[in-house]
Amino acid sequence: MSSNDNSSNAYSDFHLQFIGGEWQKGKDDSINTDTNPYNGDTIVEIQQATKEQLDEAYDAADQAQAKWAKTTPAERAAVMYKVVSILDQRQDEIVDWLIKESGSTRIKAMVEFSSARAITLEAASFPNRVHGEIRPSNTPGKENFIYREPIGVVAVISPWNFPLHLTQRSIAPALALGNAVVLKPASDTPVTGGLLLAKVFEEAGLPKGLLNVVVGSGSEIGDAIVEHKAPSLVSFTGSTSVGKHIGELANGGEYIKQVALELGGNSPFVVLKDADIEQAVKAAAFGKFLHQGQICIAINRVIVEDEIYDDFVERFLAHVKTLNVGDPNKQDTAVGPIINEKQLKSLKEKIAKAQDEGAKMILSGEIEGQVVPPHIFTEVTREMDLSCNEVFGPLVGIIRAKDEDDALSIANDSMYGLSSAVFTADMQKGLRFARGVRAGMTHINDISVNDESNTPFGGEKNSGIGRFNGEWVLEEFTRTHWISMQNEPRQYPF
Ligand code: TAP
Repeated sequence: MSSNDNSSNAYSDFHLQFIGGEWQKGKDDSINTDTNPYNGDTIVEIQQATKEQLDEAYDAADQAQAKWAKTTPAERAAVMYKVVSILDQRQDEIVDWLIKESGSTRIKAMVEFSSARAITLEAASFPNRVHGEIRPSNTPGKENFIYREPIGVVAVISPWNFPLHLTQRSIAPALALGNAVVLKPASDTPVTGGLLLAKVFEEAGLPKGLLNVVVGSGSEIGDAIVEHKAPSLVSFTGSTSVGKHIGELANGGEYIKQVALELGGNSPFVVLKDADIEQAVKAAAFGKFLHQGQICIAINRVIVEDEIYDDFVERFLAHVKTLNVGDPNKQDTAVGPIINEKQLKSLKEKIAKAQDEGAKMILSGEIEGQVVPPHIFTEVTREMDLSCNEVFGPLVGIIRAKDEDDALSIANDSMYGLSSAVFTADMQKGLRFARGVRAGMTHINDISVNDESNTPFGGEKNSGIGRFNGEWVLEEFTRTHWISMQNEPRQYPF
């Protein structure tokens, strides 16, 4: 599918903003210096956008959307199919960008590429899956029609951890459903989270103004993106603290708008005493250390039934010791660099705090640059920081559960409710356990890290509101319009 023969027209220059279908220089005084988290090299310097440029982007989106909404489903689907074909042609260079900009290991970059491709393919089916309804009326002579229309302009704010996928998961459905987008990628990944996708959609022939990418700092232009009159929906993926702030702004400002919030998680990974321990060990390692644990659905708490705790710990330790740590570009690297110094600092604090709180560190290693080797802690309790808060790094605490009920109680003891997993040989028990977990997603005999373009992805509690993928995102990115038709004169009481 992929090829290397397009090096002459490779995507390389990403120092401009993409507004109204034109590549233009940012007009703010500040510069975004996009760096490689593994070796610190500067990849590109981008002059950031001003609020006036943001207004320009919203104006362009607003104007372009009205016309786009009137296009046929076939026209919109064709753009999505073209995007898929360009992604395929450019797979190698996109994977390289993910490695150098977001510190993705080659394995993770491939996972991410495939997910972004899959959601684009799914989005190609959306224009033909939008349908309305006719409902009976209690008023004589009336007919009720329920239309599903594009929601209008969608503001998308995306994170740095799966930048290509998590951006595409919002923008592809939004565009396929007849909307226009103003996107602000995370400052750590302006290319893979935005500008690169703008090039792909431009090459695919998406009309000008429908996709705008504004590179600027969240603290500078974030509020203005949310509070602007133009967007009817803000689709945000990132931290719970910023998500709460966005929710408040979207519903407490001058212009009320809908929000879709995909926020932090604290996924429990439960191993019951009858589980296939070897399989659970491999799953725990992959679900914890993929992308250095910087995934909202990464395993955050490993909870193991008392009877098999020591056996699990011994085998897990032995397996994790075999993982290759370091250069993300190498084929067999499992654990690469942390995205930035701020995240690195927070992980160092977490390591110190875990020890202070009495957890036993059974695996550690020297931190080199931004590469943190896996750290394993045992005898972790549900009250400790490692259990209560999202780690977002290659540190893991293993909690001992007395029995199945205790494991469920620990699993549910969190303010988050995104993903979760349980290992058991008994599928009925697994299903019973899964249904008892208060989360948006639970996987039996697999990891918490799962995302399929046709199944609902999202969380409860402080993990957010709304669902991505399939018909769930189709509802999210459209609006419902009840239109009634009075076919004969109605008898009014006065
Ligand atoms: P956030 O600060 O939430 O960043 C996510 C996005 O929000 C970025 O595009 C960011 O822009 C933007 N943003 C920041 N402040 C904003 C504001 N006031 N208004 C509007 N947008 C704003 O996350 P982070 O600092 O990158 O990561 C920190 C924590 O977030 C992690 O430890 C993890 O818990 C969580 N996280 C969760 C996810 C998922 S998938 N749920 C993904 C990444 C991170 P800038 O980059 O310009 O600041």
